[in-house]
This record gives sequence, C-alpha cells and structure tokens, in this order.
Amino acid sequence: MEYDKILAQIQQEFSDTQPSGKVASYIPELAKVPASKFGMHLYDLNGENYQFGDSAERFSIQSISKVFTLSLAMKVMGDDLWNRVGVEPSGDPFNSLSQLENDSGIPRNPYINAGALVVADVLVSSFTNPKAALLTFLHELTGDTSIDFDYTVAASEQSEGYRNYAMVNYLKSFGNIENNVEDVLDFYFHQCAIAMSCRELAQAFIIFANQGTTLDSDREFLTGRQVKRINALMQTCGFYDEAGEFSFEVGLPGKSGVGGGIVAVNPYHYAVAVWSPPLNHKGNSALGMAALERLTTLTGYSIF
Ligand code: DON
Repeated sequence: MEYDKILAQIQQEFSDTQPSGKVASYIPELAKVPASKFGMHLYDLNGENYQFGDSAERFSIQSISKVFTLSLAMKVMGDDLWNRVGVEPSGDPFNSLSQLENDSGIPRNPYINAGALVVADVLVSSFTNPKAALLTFLHELTGDTSIDFDYTVAASEQSEGYRNYAMVNYLKSFGNIENNVEDVLDFYFHQCAIAMSCRELAQAFIIFANQGTTLDSDREFLTGRQVKRINALMQTCGFYDEAGEFSFEVGLPGKSGVGGGIVAVNPYHYAVAVWSPPLNHKGNSALGMAALERLTTLTGYSIF
C-alpha cells in the first residue's frame, strides 16, 4: 500500500481547508493552542513511518489516555474490572452524569469520564505511584523516556474541573470509588495532561494493531483477547455520542481527545494518529475525522 502517496494526497486535499469547529476552551490552557495545527502519522506493521505536517509536535492527549489506563487496569484486575464498569455505548456526551443514577453508579463504559474515573481508582489502588506507572508504560511502548505530563494543563483542568469533581463524588456515594476522591482526580487530571505527538501515539497504539505486541522489542504487553476487547470498546464507545458517525465515516476502532487528537487502528495493518485542535459540536476533532475518512476511502479498506 502506498501510504506515502495517500498521506500526501490527504495533506494536499485539506491544505486550504479552514477547519470548522472550535478549539476546546473549558480547560483554559487548551484554548491557547493554535487552531491551524494539523499533522498525521501512520505506523504500519512493517515498521514503516509515514507522516505530514505537525506530526512530531506534542499536544495534550486528553481522553486518548483512557485507552492506556484501561489497558493497565485490565492487566492488573482482569475480568473483575467488568463488575465495576460496563461495556455498552452510552449515546451521551463524555462528561454526562445523567445515566449514573439509573445505573446505580456503574458507568456504561470505560471511555466516558465516569468509567475512566473508576479505571483511575483501580490504578490508584494498584500502584504505589500510579502516575509513574502510567509514564513507565508509555516509555516502554514508545522507547521514549521523555514523554511526560504537562503540569500546566493538569493544573488548568483541576482549576475548572467541577463536573469531574461532581462525578467522582457521585461514584463514591454508590461505593464505586475506593480511594480519596482528591487522589483519583489528581491521577485523572494528569493522565489527560500527558503530552505526546502523532508519531508517539501511533507507535504506542501499534500494540492494538498487533495483538498486544510491540514491533521493535517484540514484547507482549497485552493478550490478543485483551486487545480484542479494548478495540471493540474503541469501536463502540471511543467517540461517545458520535461513535456511530465515526464508524460510519471511518470504519476503524479509534479514540479521540479534546486536545484535537484522534488515534485509530486497522488491526494487522497500522496505527494512525491525527491532530487538528478545532472540535465539532460533539467534542471530536472535525478535520481529524475528515482526514481519517479520506484515509480509509483512499486505501480502500477499513475493518468492514
Ligand atoms: O475530563 C475531561 O473533561 C478531559 N480531561 C478529557 C475529555 C476528553 O478528552 C473527552 N474526549 N473527547
């Protein structure tokens, strides 16, 4: 597959496009990121890299981090995790509180905020230093030990994170948070504030295209069964109330973040990351989705 030509075509097609949508501003630090940033990086199972634009610049991965924390929680807790968080799409925005009451504090899935906070609680219970454990996981996946939290972004979200405070307190009232709510939120705000580039995200996500094993070190981080489940959840829940639209347009498992990043995997073929900060009204990168739609259309294959 001539990914170099296809990525060049995608860059060219969108070169004059003014992305629709708005850069996230509810986390004040994110509002400072230029709307014009645009980059894409594809890493295939032959170990080849293809990229364009701002693909090497780090940005705030935000909810993309939920795939990494879910991976760690599945490793440490096994199938018991599913007693505390569901596996159904919510059809609601990522930060919705409304279903929790009817569902007695069991979040619909691990990618909505409520589910990610339960996953964060599992990691806070499981590791003496959960933030260090998460960074170590990313360093091992990418071979790059400079990947770190952006502490300014973490503090910025914490200063305005009223809804997440409400969510974790509500979860705790149902008995679905074991730890001090401040400790869970501190971990959650930091996981969202990890800074990575499209290149680093594509390299970290290659395990989800390769049955849980990295290409360079040939190390198995997850089993094939775990990868099947993580990808299935990305497909059905990775874009919240826009998961259907992303499946319809792109046809790959993927995960978005309000920093404007999207990572998607084509199992047995590649992992791809795209970054464009302006978000559509569902909170997903507008240009990122359009670029990935072109990728699966121009290559002629998605998972469907
Ligand atoms: O919880 C929040 O509001 C953010 N830290 C993460 C949200 C996010 O990226 C949602 N995804 N598209």
